[in-house]
Amino acid sequence: MSSCTHSNRWSRILDSLRLPLVQAPMAGGATPPALVAAVSEAGGLGSLAGALLSPDRLEADVAAIRSRTPAPFAVNLFILPSVPEVDNQAVEAALRHLAPLHVALGLPPPAVPSRWCEDFAAQFETVLRLAPPVASFTFGVLTPAQVHLLHEADCCVVGTATSLEEGEAWVAAGADAVCAQGVEAGGHRGGFLGEDANLGTLALARLLVQRLPVPVIAAGGIMDGAGMAAALALNASACQLGTAFLRCPECGIAPAWKAALATADASSTRLTRAFSGRWARGLKNDYMRRMAPVQADLPAYPVMNALTGALRAEATRQGNTACMSLWAGQGVALGRALPVAELVATLAEELATAGQALAGGGKGRLNRVLSD
Ligand SMILES: Cc1cc2nc3c(=O)[nH]c(=O)nc-3n(C[C@H](O)[C@H](O)[C@H](O)COP(=O)(O)O)c2cc1C
Repeated sequence: MSSCTHSNRWSRILDSLRLPLVQAPMAGGATPPALVAAVSEAGGLGSLAGALLSPDRLEADVAAIRSRTPAPFAVNLFILPSVPEVDNQAVEAALRHLAPLHVALGLPPPAVPSRWCEDFAAQFETVLRLAPPVASFTFGVLTPAQVHLLHEADCCVVGTATSLEEGEAWVAAGADAVCAQGVEAGGHRGGFLGEDANLGTLALARLLVQRLPVPVIAAGGIMDGAGMAAALALNASACQLGTAFLRCPECGIAPAWKAALATADASSTRLTRAFSGRWARGLKNDYMRRMAPVQADLPAYPVMNALTGALRAEATRQGNTACMSLWAGQGVALGRALPVAELVATLAEELATAGQALAGGGKGRLNRVLSD
């Protein structure tokens, strides 16, 4: 039974890191154990995206991380109802829209799969048993009883919020820290109290820092040490970076996705719900453009995600970026193709330089303002 209080659990993790850096969990193969362990070994907190993994695979991946590093790491899950709501009319419409794309890629016609997603209850039981140092969640909020179980297993609990109300819901459930995910963020929006929260990282992280009694981790658009310094200046406890890690050799995404990231510019990303039925940010491509007029009518997550599974897998196999979900955040043009250890060391150096530029010597920017 853990004797730690809420804020102590997160500060104990933070104190064990060499820099206040969380590598974002990124479902869909982006965060294999090699990446997670490399980040934790380098002094950040690596995060395994467990959402799309079966309980057996979760167990194997956690064992692989533990075999590579004794350092703390996180496991992340999507909180989903055990039986998703299925709107049959929306499913029929989605299948009609997907059919010509299946033909174009040489696939059989799209079909309803035997199941829509992994079973959250089984995944949760597995995480509880594996007791990673940090368990983080998105797309929903746990019950206080579930948070209590994780605390008894000595897990630090982090919940994702895209609005103040969601942050408050996580505090009420007993979370040790809240990840404030701004609209700049790559991948899926973590919101669960309405889908229209679109606050930027600066505004959201600062609001949550001011209003919540727990530490806040800033996420969305942070790509380098200067960005980290900005978030820390808001009094965020740490920064969660996703897109910044996508071009690392340890990251498991397809080469065609990495190549698209390398040539992306500041206007390359858009929000879409056409791939998964949930708003997510990625590089705009033909699929997004084609589906934009009908995306409001498509089924919600996880149904649409399952319906596009075969298409996305085949497009990835063919290296056809027109139909791949190329998740990326607004900061994509600032990305670097560095091995994890080098990237984390660079982030640490940049963070120190940015800190000195703000506060250092008589020449620091902050000092100049103060002496005016
Ligand atoms: C490819 C990709 C997959 C993601 N998958 C997850 C996930 O499984 N769970 C989660 O909580 N967040 C996920 N996110 C969101 C990240 O946790 C984080 O909020 C985001 O990457 C931060 O913004 P940035 O990409 O601009 O750094 C994903 C992001 C990306 C880019």
